[in-house]
Order: sequence, then structure tokens, then C-alpha cells
Amino acid sequence: MSDLDEPDIAALHKAVLREQKEPIEGREPVPIWMGAVFVVLIAWGGWYLGRYDARFDTQRADMQPLVTEVKSSPPSEPNTARGDAAMVERGAELFGGRCAACHQATGKGLPGVAPPLDGSEWVTGDPERTTRVVLHGLTGPIEVAGQPWNGAMPAWGATMTDAEVAAVLSYIRTAWSNDAGTVSLEDVKQVRDAHADRSAPWTADEL
Ligand code: HEC
Repeated sequence: MSDLDEPDIAALHKAVLREQKEPIEGREPVPIWMGAVFVVLIAWGGWYLGRYDARFDTQRADMQPLVTEVKSSPPSEPNTARGDAAMVERGAELFGGRCAACHQATGKGLPGVAPPLDGSEWVTGDPERTTRVVLHGLTGPIEVAGQPWNGAMPAWGATMTDAEVAAVLSYIRTAWSNDAGTVSLEDVKQVRDAHADRSAPWTADEL
């Protein structure tokens, strides 16, 4: 028997064995940079929910940074001549996060949404009344700077501390063209204690 009769099978298949499998299109492994992009996106998503979910409470308007109109107009400088600059500064921050979505960073309000705070006698008048509005909310027809309004202002007493309410009140009373005095933590505590069993929002008649 010669070599010609009996082909060398090992030699013949050498080439086939050496070849790699044909890659299948669309099954390539994910590139490392793309994995990194997903990690960053997921981390950002987690941060975003933590920052802006407002605990999924529809009563709270913590969505302010999403409202482009608000973003484009930062709160104006408060008139801090009366001192307590740090508290007013903290109040400005709180205002941006909790009130500006409705009352606007300019304090001018938004037709159909919320009345103005700038130039409002509700803000610069008796601080006790303003404190009650912020702690428990306000509903029904009111008049602000000569204009009739009929909406519902949410209550903040459950989600804001006395110090936070005092800060935000001090801010709105001194910001824009407003030039009233600041409100102290003790003032707010007094009002909160005096109306401890109040849970419904106030109406203009009650105040
Ligand atoms: C969901 C929208 C909304 C948010 C958020 C909101 N308000 Fe109001 N606010 C209103 C509406 C609506 C009224 C008018 C209520 C009425 O017509 O009885 C009002 C009324 C007021 C008033 C009395 C009227 C005036 O214009 O002076 C004050 C003071 C006030 N809000 C302060 C605040 C402060 C401080 C915050 C943040 C802690 C805040 N509001 C957050 C909607 C809102």
C-alpha cells in the first residue's frame, strides 16, 4: 500500500483544525467603554431619584430644578440689611427647592398657579399670619396685591422644621422689593404650638 492510496487524514485536516470559528455578527462582546457608560448612567439614575423624587409625594413640588423657566432666572439678591444673612441665605435655598416651582424664583407668581410673594401684603404683613399660611396651607378665595386668587397652597408644617420655616419666611420677607423684618425660630415655634391641633389649610376669613 502506497501513500497515494491511503491519504494522510491528519495532514488533510490540519488546515481545518487551525481555523477559528466564523464569528456571528451581532454577538460580539460588549466593549469595556460601553460597560463603563452604563455604570455611570445607572449611578446617575440613582442619584437623580434620590435628589428629585420628593419621596414620590405628589403634594410636594420639589421638582423645581426641572422647570426650565425657574432655572433660567435665579432668585434675586435678598435685602439683608437687617442682618441674619446666613438664615436668609438658607431660606433662599429652601425657597428655590420648595416654593419657586409655584411662586417663581422672581417672586412674581404665575397666573393660574400661584399668587406673587413680591409686593404681597400677606408676606410683608403680620408675620404670624404668614407663618400660619406656610405651616398649614391656605385655600379658597384671597386677594393679593389687589388681584383675586382662588387656589390651594400646600401645608409645609409636616415637612419643614421650625428653623426651615423661619429661614424661608425671612427670605421672602426680605427678597425682591420686600423689606419686612426676619422671622426667628422661636416665632415659628410659638405659632406652631398655638395651632398644634390644626391640620386643615386656613381660609382667608379665618386669618
Ligand atoms: C403647589 C404650588 C405652591 C407651592 C409649592 C407653594 N405655594 Fe404658596 N401659594 C400657592 C397658592 C395657589 C396660593 C394661594 C392660595 C389661595 O388662593 O387661597 C399660595 C399662597 C401663598 C401665600 C399667601 C399669598 C401671597 O401670595 O402672599 C404665601 C405667603 C405663600 N403662598 C408662601 C409660600 C412659601 C413660603 C412656599 C414654600 C415653602 C410656598 N408658598 C409654596 C401655591 C403654592
